[in-house]
Formats: sequence, structure tokens, C-alpha cells
Amino acid sequence: MPLSVVILAAGQGKRMNSDLPKVLQPLAGQPLLQHVIRTARALNPADIEVVYGHGGALVQAAFDHEDVDWVLQAEQLGTGHAVMEAMSVIPDEHTVLVLFGDVPLIGAASLQRLLAPAADGALAILSVNLEEAAGYGRILRDAGGQVSAIVEHKDASLEQLQIKEVFSGLLAAPAGRLRAWLLGLGTNNSQREYYLTDVVALAVAAGDRVEAVLAANATEVLGVNDRIQLAEAESRYRAMRARDLMVAGATLADPARIDIRAGEVSVDRDVFIDVNAVLIGKVHLGARVKIGPNCVIKNARIGADTEIFANSLIDNTLIGEHCRIGPFARLRPGTVLDRGVHIGNFVEVKNSEIGADSKANHLSYVGDARVGRDVNIGAGTITCNYDGANKWPTRIDDGAFIGSGSMLVAPLRIGAGATIGAGSTIASSTPGGKLTLARPVQTTAARWSRPGKLDPEQLAAAVERAMQEEPAAQDGPATQDKRAAQDGPAAQDGPAAQDEANDSQE
Ligand code: UD1
Ligand code: CA
Repeated sequence: MPLSVVILAAGQGKRMNSDLPKVLQPLAGQPLLQHVIRTARALNPADIEVVYGHGGALVQAAFDHEDVDWVLQAEQLGTGHAVMEAMSVIPDEHTVLVLFGDVPLIGAASLQRLLAPAADGALAILSVNLEEAAGYGRILRDAGGQVSAIVEHKDASLEQLQIKEVFSGLLAAPAGRLRAWLLGLGTNNSQREYYLTDVVALAVAAGDRVEAVLAANATEVLGVNDRIQLAEAESRYRAMRARDLMVAGATLADPARIDIRAGEVSVDRDVFIDVNAVLIGKVHLGARVKIGPNCVIKNARIGADTEIFANSLIDNTLIGEHCRIGPFARLRPGTVLDRGVHIGNFVEVKNSEIGADSKANHLSYVGDARVGRDVNIGAGTITCNYDGANKWPTRIDDGAFIGSGSMLVAPLRIGAGATIGAGSTIASSTPGGKLTLARPVQTTAARWSRPGKLDPEQLAAAVERAMQEEPAAQDGPATQDKRAAQDGPAAQDGPAAQDEANDSQE
């Protein structure tokens, strides 16, 4: 029998006290409704009907990317009314599964168990036993133990409120029968609404079979009606994902201190993840990868045996095997690191490829660069890739050694095996295998003494004089020209090739 899934998502969610429609409230970085749609898809339904109403355009816009049918419930007259609206497009011979946009953690396995009796002609309701059942509809059974009705919390007698077996809100039934029962709904209750829950008594009256199927656990059927329940759902979601990682072979320093958001995280064996990792989107960690404390990793693949040290941020990046990243590294989108690369503290890499065994260990910015293998980028090196209007590339060939504190004014190319002296501002390409440096000559003033303390008047007069001097523009080299017409690397006479490698090690 083809399956139609109906997702109720029209309610406002008054108890959220929010401008955002309830089903758009984020759980693990995605709207509540997204979680429900994902689970619905896992059942391979013929169609998914989302009943929307409150915040309509906003809800539809947020799910532009989803292939679902939208059913407008202009007035929220109750859950029964909402299902009725969707029934107009569902043929009698389908099985209907009703899900709630605010019951986000439901698993496909429980739903499969609900679909089996429905395919057999029964009304199947998903139930759960709760000690603390405030807000939930109570399941009533007759003397013979058969389900006879559901009574809403607000309509229940004191005695009925003692019942621990409650309705999750989710149910499945043959479409033709469901349509018939729904036609019998009225609004004779404390909220003057068409209750979906009343179909139970109507099915019983019509001589149809009703079966309560117990949910696998209470987490799955947790309803999110306020922000306290939202936080509860978040922490349970986190626990479920942490479990998945442990089952797959990751050791977690503390399963309560890992966040997985909007994510498909996969791990190979013997991964170790320290506390406060935030994993977002599609993340893969290869075998024996170690993640230090407080790392944020978003859309990344990390190769086997790589270690990420504390407080590193990794965003849309591919990292090879045996790399060492951080602490305090920032890898931005478009970064591709080959095997054995070291990126150290306070190093930012953006949109750059870095070849095998190359290192940038301290305080550097590498942007829009192609770096070869066995390159050493000294502390404080900056690829000056932006002229205020355009982004320019830098190329550093295999085996180059960039001295500390170098400014590489792009576009340029550092030839293979070149050495750049520390503190150089390099504004055009440099030849391979040679030392290039560009820095002022060092002088020592023979007659100089430290200034003495001035009295306030002397100080004020000196400031006044300095401010009145006319700043004068001087003709300088036109860097614009260099950027516009780039020649290939050309050897130049440089200063004596003394040992310039007084910079960063490794
Ligand atoms: C509902 C059930 C209750 C069950 C509980 C489980 C009914 C009458 N009650 O109560 O038995 O224990 O869920 O979580 O069904 N909605 C619409 N249109 C409407 C009204 C609601 O689309 O006119 C949607 C809401 O957006 C929400 C869902 O239906 O996603 C449930 O509605 P809500 O008002 O939260 O029902 P509960 O009071 O939680
Ligand atoms: Ca609810």
C-alpha cells in the first residue's frame, strides 16, 4: 500500500513566546520540521503533505529545498481539522501516517512498527509510558484492556490524569477509514477544537481495530512546546549522536560535552574527541584522528592519524593524513592540506592548497595561495592578497623557505628552493634556489640619548608643532603597475648571502 505522510506544522507554538513559528525553532542547528521531514523520507513515502498555517510564507521559504506538498490550514481549528485538510489530496487506498512538526526525535524504526498494523486495516497509535505526563492525552482502555479512547489532559478527570500510558500524537491508519472517522469529529471539548485524538473512540464505535504501539523510548516522542522542552530535546539529540559515534569506534572524553549540529558525522576506528567539540554539517574523521578540546569543525574531511590541537576552527577544509593542526589554528573555506602538513598557533589559512610536509607553525596568514611541498613558512608571514579592491594569488614552490615576518605582496611566485630573508617585504616574484631579501639597512646611532621627561607646557608645545607640519605626498613606486603587468621571476643582485635563516624553526 502506498504511504502518505502528513506532518502537522500549522500551530503557532504560543508557549515558545517567539516571533518564529514553532516548527522553525532550531534543534541541533536545523528547524524542528527538518528533523521530521528527514525521518519521513526514510520511509520512502509516495508523498509528504505538510500542513502549514501560522507563519506560512516563512515556513515554506525555509523548506524551499524540500520536495513536499504544502497544505494550507488557514485557521488552526485543531489537530483533527489539520489532518482533514490534508486528506483531500490523499487517495483512499493509501496508508496515512500522521507526524507532528513538534515531535522531532521520532525514529524510523518506531514508525515502521506503527505502519504494520495500519497496513492490516487497524488504527495504530504510538503510545509511551510517562511518569510525568503533563500536557499529553491519556489512553483509556475498557474492562477487557482494549483501547477505547484518548482524553486530552485539559479534558481529563482527576482519576484519568493518573494514567501513565499517553499518546505521542503520532498515528497510522488506512486513508479510507481515517477519512470516515474524521467526518465524525466535533468540537465539544474544553478547547473547542477538532481533536485528532477523538478518532480513537470513533474507530472503536465503527467496529474498527485500534492498536497502541509502544514507542521504543520516551525521547523519541518528546513534544517540544516550550523552550524548556526544546533544551531537553537538544540534550537528548546530543546524547543520541554521541552514542552513534561511540558505537562507530570513537572515544569521547565526555559524551555530554560534544555537539553535533545539522550533521552527518562519520568516524573511522579509534578516533579520540576531547571535550567541547562542535561538529557541524558533513564531517568525516579518519582512523586515529585526535581532536583536542574546544574545536569547531564544519564540513571537513580529516585524514587518518591527523591531530587537531585545542581551540582550532576548521571550516570547509580537506586535511590529509598525519597533519598537525593548532592549537588556535583557523582553516577557512577552500583550504586543502596534503599529508604531513603542520599548521600551528594563530595561523589562518584561506582558500589555499598546501603541499605535503609543508609547515606554517606560528602567527601567519596564508590566503589564495598555492604552496608546494616541504615549504617552511616562518612566523608572522603574511600573503598580502588584497589591494583593497581585488584578491591576488601567491604561489610558493617546493622547498622554499620564507623567513619570519615576511610580507608577500601578491600576485607573486616564490621559486622552488628560494629563501626569503626575515622581515622582507617581497613585492615581485623571486627566483628559485637563491636568497632574496628586502629590508632596510641596519644602523646604530652613535650620538643618541634617551629623551628626558618634559613638563606639561613643553609637551603641549611639542604636540602643537607636530600637528602643524604639512604632510606631503611623495612619489613612490607604483605598486598598481606591478600588480597589473607581472613578469616572471628574474634573478637580481642581492646583498651578500649571509645566513638569513634566523627565523622560525621546522
Ligand atoms: C497533542 C495531542 C495529545 C498528545 C500530544 C503529544 C491532540 C488533540 N492532542 O497535544 O493527545 O499527547 O500532542 O505531543 O491531538 N497543529 C496544527 N493545526 C492545528 C493544531 C495543531 O497543525 O490546528 C499542529 C501543531 O503545529 C503541532 C501539532 O499539530 O505540530 C500538535 O499540536 P499541539 O497543539 O502542540 O498539540 P498538543 O497539545 O501537544
Ligand atoms: Ca505539542
